[in-house]
This record gives sequence, C-alpha cells and structure tokens, in this order.
Amino acid sequence: MRHLMSPLDFSTEELDRLFALAEDIEHNPAKYAHVCDGKKLATCFYEPSTRTRLSFEAAMLNLGGRVLGFSDANSSSAAKGESVSDTIRVISCFADICAMRHPKEGAPMVAASRSSIPVINAGDGGHQHPTQTLTDLLTIRAIKGRLNSFTIGLCGDLKFGRTVHSLINALVRYDNINFIFISPEELTIPDYIIEMLREKNVSFREVRKLEDVMPSLDILYMTRVQKERFFNEEDYVRLKDYYILDKEKMELAKPDMIVLHPLPRVNEISVEVDDDPRAVYFRQVQYGVYVRMALLLTLLEIEVSDFEQEDIKTC
Ligand code: CP
Repeated sequence: MRHLMSPLDFSTEELDRLFALAEDIEHNPAKYAHVCDGKKLATCFYEPSTRTRLSFEAAMLNLGGRVLGFSDANSSSAAKGESVSDTIRVISCFADICAMRHPKEGAPMVAASRSSIPVINAGDGGHQHPTQTLTDLLTIRAIKGRLNSFTIGLCGDLKFGRTVHSLINALVRYDNINFIFISPEELTIPDYIIEMLREKNVSFREVRKLEDVMPSLDILYMTRVQKERFFNEEDYVRLKDYYILDKEKMELAKPDMIVLHPLPRVNEISVEVDDDPRAVYFRQVQYGVYVRMALLLTLLEIEVSDFEQEDIKTC
C-alpha cells in the first residue's frame, strides 16, 4: 500500500506514467467513467479548501466512485479531542482511500502510519502540498511540452507558501531549471530549501522587484500572502499587497511566458490579467482534476486495460 506525502514519493519515471494517464483521462473520459465503481474516497479536511477538496471529490465521482468526509474540523470529533491517529483508523473502516488536509505539519504522515488505506496529503500547514505540485507539473508539461530547461519566477509569500516548497522540491529533479525567488524580505524562501539548492548546485537568485525579472521568465508562479499563517495582523496588512501583477507588468513578459497560481487569489493578480492568454491559472484547476483521477487510480492500484505503456512520454 502506498501513500502520497510529498511529490518526491514518486520517481520521475512514475510521474511520467501518472501524467500520461492524466492526459489519457483528459482525452478519453468515457473510458474511465466506471473504473472506480464501488470505491469510496474520504475527504478529511481540518482546514478550509475549495479546489483541493472539490477536485478530489469530482475526480472520484468522474471515476464512478463515491465520496464521504468532513470539510471542517469542528464538525468532526476532532472538536471533542479525537486524535488524527484514531480518526484515520475509523475512516479506514468506511473508505478505500483518504485525502487529508491539516493545519499541523506532519499530521497526514501520522495518519498514514496508522492507516490501513492509502492516505494522500492534501496540504499540511506551511510544509507540503503534493497534489498541487502534481497539478502544477501537469499544467507546465501540457502547455510548455517539457519539464526541463526553463526559468521560473516564484513570487509572493515564499516563507509560508507550501505549494512553492513542494514545487521546488519536485522541479530540482529536472535538468536546467533556473529559479528566481521574488519576495519581500520578511517572506523569503526558508533556509532549508536554499541549502538544498546549494547542495544540488541548482541555479537560483533572490530578488525583491518583480518588474526587474519579468522579461527573463518562462513561467511566473504567483502566490497569495498566507494570512492564516501570520501571528500578527499588522504584518499581514503591511505585506498583503506587496506584489500585484497587472497588465502593465505583463507587457514586460515574453509572449509565451505563462502565469500559474495555485489559487485562491486575493489581490496579487489583477482581474484584468485573466483575459491574457498567458494567464493559465483556471486551466491549471482543470488539470488538477485529471491528475487527481490518475492519482486515485494509481494508489488504488486499478489498471485500465487499454492504457498503453508505450504512450508514456518522458519529460
Ligand atoms: N490550491 C489550493 O490548495 O486551493 P484550496 O485551498 O482551495 O484547496
């Protein structure tokens, strides 16, 4: 039995297979409409979510399975003091697979250690968000046609943004990736990531001004300032609008640069940018459903007979 705690739980070859399966699902949805008949997904969300929870639920429904779960810790027995370890043992009696989001870093890992069903980390505190990373990688692969040889700017709250931490971890395994970290002084990328990049000899630099680096980017990954991780409201208010991507800044970018955002967006991308064909963050949401469908099939070890190994393209 396999769980998914980090994007590194899959080798790059396994990711190629997962993405090929997601692409086959995108192009042949009818083939997959009943492959999870009789299977149940539990979504245990101790923190708010729109995309991750609903895209997991849509993924299981698209595969013919059913869903159960909770979307608020206060509506579960966590409010009465039940531990994550006990909760997952109970959920294991009800469902075949579980997606869990929790504000505490490592909570899904604790659940996995006590579970008799596969557990998927759907975001743990400021730590990791592996299925967002799978979504981001599939989006880049589908639109850019490759997962190597590009300059990616990650902009905003790089300290608390778990999607950024997961994405960097995943991308360092591909060749010729150049990272540009764009953040205010108070929200820089954690030291442990900088150390990992230095150890692996990966090219990166840290800057404060988005405008200065726009012309060199192939991908711009915008993030919101993570209000829920701040200890102090004053600091949040001071930093929340530090970066706002607007039409004027988009004019500085390459014609084929793409803008990703894990969403939700607050103010960091002006709505006037949404109509720019380079703004692909809503397409990214759709890729999230395909990749979660592929992930459910993979962790449930469901083979679809006419999915051809030969179709797998290496990126
Ligand atoms: N991208 C993401 O995790 O969105 P939600 O918080 O809405 O799930």
